[in-house]
Amino acid sequence: MSTAFDHPTYNYRVVRAFTIMTVVWGVVGMAIGVLIASQLVWPDLLANIPYLHFGRLRPLHTNAVIFGFGGSALFATSYYVVQRTTQARLFSDVLAGFTFWGWQIIIVAAAITLPLGYTQTKEYAELEWPIDIMITLVWVAYAVNFFGTIAKRKMKHIYVANWFFGAFIITVAVLHIGNSAVVPVGALKSYSVYSGAADAMVQWWYGHNAVGFFLTAGFLGMMYYFVPKQAGRPVFSYRLSIVHFWALISLYIWAGPHHLHYTALPNWTQSLGMVMSLILLAPSWGGMINGVMTLSGAWHKLRHDPILRFLVVSLSFYGMSTFEGPMMSIKTVNALSHYTDWTIGHVHAGALGWVAMVSIGSVYHLLPAVLGLKPGAMYSTRLINVHFWLATIGTVLYIASMWVNGIMQGLMWRAFNNDGSLTYSFVEAVDASYPGWFVRVLGGGVFLLGMLLMSYNTYMTVRSAKGQETEAFNADTQTA
Ligand code: HEM
Ligand code: HEM
Repeated sequence: MSTAFDHPTYNYRVVRAFTIMTVVWGVVGMAIGVLIASQLVWPDLLANIPYLHFGRLRPLHTNAVIFGFGGSALFATSYYVVQRTTQARLFSDVLAGFTFWGWQIIIVAAAITLPLGYTQTKEYAELEWPIDIMITLVWVAYAVNFFGTIAKRKMKHIYVANWFFGAFIITVAVLHIGNSAVVPVGALKSYSVYSGAADAMVQWWYGHNAVGFFLTAGFLGMMYYFVPKQAGRPVFSYRLSIVHFWALISLYIWAGPHHLHYTALPNWTQSLGMVMSLILLAPSWGGMINGVMTLSGAWHKLRHDPILRFLVVSLSFYGMSTFEGPMMSIKTVNALSHYTDWTIGHVHAGALGWVAMVSIGSVYHLLPAVLGLKPGAMYSTRLINVHFWLATIGTVLYIASMWVNGIMQGLMWRAFNNDGSLTYSFVEAVDASYPGWFVRVLGGGVFLLGMLLMSYNTYMTVRSAKGQETEAFNADTQTA
């Protein structure tokens, strides 16, 4: 059934649906984030309800934010960008609908099975095998739809954003199928076909490239479309964007072992992972500089345009986390940072500062367009501005508190007395971490408040678009 908003050429319906779910899952996933952050400060919070225990809610948080929020943002923007830049309608509306409903069912299945304790225990790949099969089906449909649209494009050139989206789609398929190979032993129970150190290596080949392709390449696709659009300037260097693409995708795939320093993994693989991670700094910064320099001659727009601010600040956090990551991959640095809150701070510099901010900026840009409103016609620009400050302050509070905690924990754990005994017991380090954990709750709460404002702004924008459509419809019927 077609609706009043339908576009004559493009399928905006699926983009709208994924955009709205981006906001919904953003609020849900981050609310769970604030809840688990609170459980670390007040350990008794919900501790007597097994389904809502920290250990079960933590993977629910990561699945809801990465796959629910990040995934919906990636579907929405890739479907939007591929249509706009190829000037062709999506290859198949049926497949588009299938990917939307399939993906939502997967996230809901995660929200049911994880609190019930069904898990494969592999980080970011916890969901049990029937859900994994659903993911594969949805992903194949997504790939056919995306590449099918590229194939029927109206112009010869394939814009660079589509290269990044394409690499993200192909690599995630390979990673998911490779890492999810299991022997099912029950409806919701399975064992990995890999064992021991090989299992760990495959898991972190997956885990790191989930970061590299799910949380980075796809969002770079977003960046290459929405930054130039919002700034009203062409990409700073198209040549650099192509070098950036090939360098990034050929290096990321080798860096996984930096998650397994000082483990049973052969030492040479750890060193190789470290070296590849260090080299990865170059293409990451190449991309960041390319994005930031796109603003050359348009810097003044930052004064009035909160959407552009979201996009530029996301690039700064991208630059920061891709500097920090290579440093943490150096074995001697990792000896201090591993197992501490420093890693958690690094994760959220990338997740809140980069992934969430670039998605939020992109959603604010595309929502009016897919609702048939004038460009930039969100209900309230002032609310976007308030959201921008809440998101920035929230991110800074979160990551600064985790740096302080992380370095303090690492130093306390390795402090020795002259007689060789440990200076601090583990529980003393836990006790010293409480102030930092409390500041994280505040930071997360502030970020979440911004997301609630975004929900209100989104709701009011959809409402005003509906109102305009009804007015136009009434005017039409009166003149007819
Ligand atoms: C309001 C915002 C958020 C809050 C308060 C929050 C809070 C938390 C907390 C408390 C943890 C567990 C830390 C631990 O075990 O010590 C965590 C883990 C994690 N969060 Fe968030 N989070 C937020 C947003 C996000 C977003 C938007 C993403 C991704 C796009 C994300 C991705 C992750 C990941 C990947 C982990 C696991 C990190 C690891 O295992 O090293 N979070 N989060
Ligand atoms: C050049 C880029 C990057 C490099 C070399 C890198 C490197 C690292 C290193 C060394 C760790 C710590 C591993 C450990 O001690 O356990 C780590 C953890 C992590 N990083 Fe990065 N990082 C990079 C960029 C990013 C970005 C942009 C994001 C998010 C968008 C991100 C998300 C994560 C996550 C989620 C983890 C935690 C994994 C886990 O243990 O669960 N990284 N990264």
